[in-house]
Amino acid sequence: MKFSLAILALLGAIDSTIATTTAPSTPSDSTLDATNDNSVVAGAYIVEFEDENEETDVFYQGLSADGIDVDHRVDLRYNLFKGASFNLRNTDSLNETVAAIAGLQKVKNIWPVRRLSFPKPNPVSVGNNATALAAHTKRQQVEEKPFSPHLMTQVDRLHAEGITGGGIKIGIVDTGVDYLHPALGGCFGEGCLVAYGYDLTGDDDSSPVPIPDDDPYDDCFGHGTHVTGIIAAQANDQGFLGASPNVTIGMYKASGCGGSTTNDILIAGFNMAYEAGSDIISCSAGDDSGFASDPWAMAASRIADAGVPVIVALGNSGSDGLWQAATPASGWSVTAVGSVENTLSPVIQAAASFSIDSGVQEKFGLRWGSPAFQENLTLPLWSVSSAIGASACSALPEDTPDLSDKVVLVGISVENGCYPETQAGFIAAKGGRYILYYDLKNGTTSQLYIYDANIKGTASITLDQGIEFLNLLNDGQNVTVDITDYSNAGIFVQNWDNTEGGGYTSKSSSWGPTFEVEIKPQMTAPGGMILSTYPLRLGGYAAISGTSMATPLVAAAFALVGQVKGTLDPATIRHALSATAKALNFYDGTSPYGILAPVAQQGGGMIQVYDAAYAATTLSVSSLALNDSDQFVADQTFSIQNSGSQDATYTLGHAKAATMYSLQQGAKVLVTVNFPGRMVDDWATISFESDSITVPAGGKAEVKLTVTPPATANATLLPVYSGYITLNSSTGENLSLPYLGVKGSLHDTPTVQGGGGADLAGVYLTDTNGHFNIPAAANRTFTIPRPDANVTGPSPVYPKLRASMTLGTRELRAYVVPLSGTTLPTTTLLGYQSLGSMPGFPKEWLYRGGTSQYFWGQLADGTIVPEGTYKIVVSALRSFGDASKDEDWVSAETVPFIIDYTE
Ligand SMILES: *[C@@H]1O[C@H](CO)[C@@H](O)[C@H](O)[C@H]1NC(C)=O
Ligand SMILES: *[C@@H]1O[C@H](CO)[C@@H](O)[C@H](O)[C@H]1NC(C)=O
Ligand SMILES: *[C@@H]1O[C@H](CO)[C@@H](O)[C@H](O)[C@H]1NC(C)=O
Ligand SMILES: *[C@@H]1O[C@H](CO)[C@@H](O)[C@H](O)[C@H]1NC(C)=O
Ligand SMILES: *[C@@H]1O[C@H](CO)[C@@H](O)[C@H](O)[C@H]1NC(C)=O
Ligand SMILES: *[C@@H]1O[C@H](CO)[C@@H](O)[C@H](O)[C@H]1NC(C)=O
Ligand SMILES: *[C@@H]1O[C@H](CO)[C@@H](O)[C@H](O)[C@H]1NC(C)=O
Ligand SMILES: *[C@@H]1O[C@H](CO)[C@@H](O)[C@H](O)[C@H]1NC(C)=O
Repeated sequence: MKFSLAILALLGAIDSTIATTTAPSTPSDSTLDATNDNSVVAGAYIVEFEDENEETDVFYQGLSADGIDVDHRVDLRYNLFKGASFNLRNTDSLNETVAAIAGLQKVKNIWPVRRLSFPKPNPVSVGNNATALAAHTKRQQVEEKPFSPHLMTQVDRLHAEGITGGGIKIGIVDTGVDYLHPALGGCFGEGCLVAYGYDLTGDDDSSPVPIPDDDPYDDCFGHGTHVTGIIAAQANDQGFLGASPNVTIGMYKASGCGGSTTNDILIAGFNMAYEAGSDIISCSAGDDSGFASDPWAMAASRIADAGVPVIVALGNSGSDGLWQAATPASGWSVTAVGSVENTLSPVIQAAASFSIDSGVQEKFGLRWGSPAFQENLTLPLWSVSSAIGASACSALPEDTPDLSDKVVLVGISVENGCYPETQAGFIAAKGGRYILYYDLKNGTTSQLYIYDANIKGTASITLDQGIEFLNLLNDGQNVTVDITDYSNAGIFVQNWDNTEGGGYTSKSSSWGPTFEVEIKPQMTAPGGMILSTYPLRLGGYAAISGTSMATPLVAAAFALVGQVKGTLDPATIRHALSATAKALNFYDGTSPYGILAPVAQQGGGMIQVYDAAYAATTLSVSSLALNDSDQFVADQTFSIQNSGSQDATYTLGHAKAATMYSLQQGAKVLVTVNFPGRMVDDWATISFESDSITVPAGGKAEVKLTVTPPATANATLLPVYSGYITLNSSTGENLSLPYLGVKGSLHDTPTVQGGGGADLAGVYLTDTNGHFNIPAAANRTFTIPRPDANVTGPSPVYPKLRASMTLGTRELRAYVVPLSGTTLPTTTLLGYQSLGSMPGFPKEWLYRGGTSQYFWGQLADGTIVPEGTYKIVVSALRSFGDASKDEDWVSAETVPFIIDYTE
């Protein structure tokens, strides 16, 4: 599950030269003009103005006078960000043009516009449409219990005290919201739960320009509706509430029905939410770039620095292992959130009820088959047999009553050749029209399709429900079932034990740190298997998983803790939530370990809001980032503030977390280790100046400690070590402070290396069109049409550069180097005689997944290279490198290849 997974085809019209990963059919195909990197909008840039009074029109006129014509995209005229975004009309000499703009005195910064998408909701369960329940085996009691995500995080305890976020405004930047949902207030505007907001894009993703309006309504994508319910759902039939149901919501809708968007829109959304007076901003979107210094991350961080907590999802790329912090969660002052699996899995079924001998009605759940029940029925239940699992696989006995006015209960057969359809035939032969099948496999309901024309309604129920019915019938009770037609039935939520890592950090939750070794995530909250509101048109309620669902719970936690503490200062609340969070043991996707999960995966751990709200002790920091060996500082200090009414003595200790190697052992090209990672039994040691410290009531004291990184772990493989400094107070409070460091040098780790080979790592040339990257042999000849020739016909194979990186890089260049002599001028670049840049380069803020780019004989500036032998050299800026210093770049090259034009 990638965080920004969709290829944003729907955005294609904004950028008509959208990249594809398949080869073009002719050289004039517009796909050739684009980079193969879908993460940026080719030719689109965001500028930040030096002067806050700069007028966008005047700025554009100035550009035009310099021969640079642009089409305006988005105004960014905010207190904390003054600038604009635009599309360059002419992208032939992109590098020179961008450099010219960057060099203008009026321009403080320029960045490419990045494309990303909100995670497409992939409900595990949705109203009116229950999906397979396999893997969730235990049916829970149906009685009212606290909502498990609230129980896990102590939200229920604050609710019990009447702390529900009243008076606090939470601005959400998401896909819009179905505010007509009765659990979300039923209206929009002043006095409504969703009281303010804006639609920055319009609904139509295929529109070439955003079509903003005042109404953030969404009934087509659903993500934002689910997020909003996690924060603020009002009382409803499903028996759950939002975590801060008395807040006021602002929704800044930043995508259309396809869920795709761009970072200029998102920067605008964040700033609009801020300027509308939001007390907290929550956003469940991101892009796996991994840098704190990316523009969106910077814009988000500025808002937090201005006093408004910004809470952002870290991403769902946990399978990629370390160093995959998404932007803008990566921003310095942004609170990045990871996900914990709910202890229970909510399973949404259609609601039906039954009564025994006309007694009280009891609800049960159905999974509609085909045909579903089209009518409202109240009929007696009749079983084909008194034995569990005995089923109608042959003609029913002579004495079978007329079944036309009964609902027939039957187990799905395991007999060879006896399908539900076969059983339906024997039941229909006795007049049967309505069938409830129960599964013989515990914890499953089957999707059934019955084609027998006599059958008017089918549904399946669980084995346990089937047994309950059978026992009642065998006892001689009269069971009457009440089934409402499928479009009016409503839903019935059952909570099953989550046997797939319930209570542990989700394996899909992305890991930090950032490439600047900033600690990410800051904390975690339940995000896996979360029941919340969903657009009415899409079923009304859904259970969905991801850091997207954990983030709004943390945003609500800021509101609750802020309400108790009487401040919404981002650092104060972040420190309190981190210090009181519950660090969880590592779970590798199959089994739990006896050691804490890395700080890179869980930050401080799972939030405990009651403890955070009432802790008398506060720490001056929320974590200690020790950086890599080059920047390591062994001696660390932080302070303890005791706001309690009694003196407190804190016993200091150290709880180590699992140390994980970043890079694979013995690999030819250095590559990162995927989840669950490679643990090394070696940890930092921490020594304290004194093992305990007494802080008088109302007083403050400093804790001094010295960190010694793991002694034996192999520094070449960049082990990421971490743990928690524990502070156990004589007053009974237990706090912890996460720390994280890297042994080894990020700067000296080659950001890119020459590669290819069976593991397809590093920088190499491929000679296959499409998705498969088969390395090209040296000196392969690529026979392709001359780029300016107007030819049609079958697509030739173009050389394609593939560059995967060991670590992310702030800048990646690729240039074409002639090997057979050339008539064209060359320049010396990092020791190579280069003809110029590959199209689509340089690329900035590139995450370690890297990039691909076709070469069709033409340089970035449009120059067509003559036939001959070439290689492509890729240079990446080293971590913490200075782009102006040659020694801070690392280069890798492809094999030589021959360009041969067909005409
Ligand atoms: C039911 O949900 C699944 C998974 O979300 C979806 O693929 C399917 O189309 C839905 N069916 C209906 C009838 O809505
Ligand atoms: C189904 O599984 C649950 C939990 O594992 C158990 O309590 C229940 O008895 C099982 N039902 C049957 C019929 O085996
Ligand atoms: C919270 O909102 C509910 C209605 O949604 C209201 O009854 C209650 O009084 C509010 N509580 C506070 C503390 O504002
Ligand atoms: C079933 O009953 C509901 C009310 O509970 C009603 O709205 C609906 O129209 C009925 N369906 C049919 C098919 O009569
Ligand atoms: C079930 O219903 C039948 C017919 O209505 C009735 O004769 C019988 O007594 C009922 N059984 C019980 C246990 O109430
Ligand atoms: C450390 O790892 C590197 C890269 O795999 C390897 O070449 C080197 O031998 C290792 N060093 C030790 C001491 O194992
Ligand atoms: C590729 O061709 C060059 C001459 O252009 C030659 O020097 C080199 O050895 C060749 N490489 C291979 C692997 O054949
Ligand atoms: C792009 O332009 C910058 C600034 O002029 C220059 O430093 C860089 O080398 C160029 N990159 C390529 C790949 O040509």
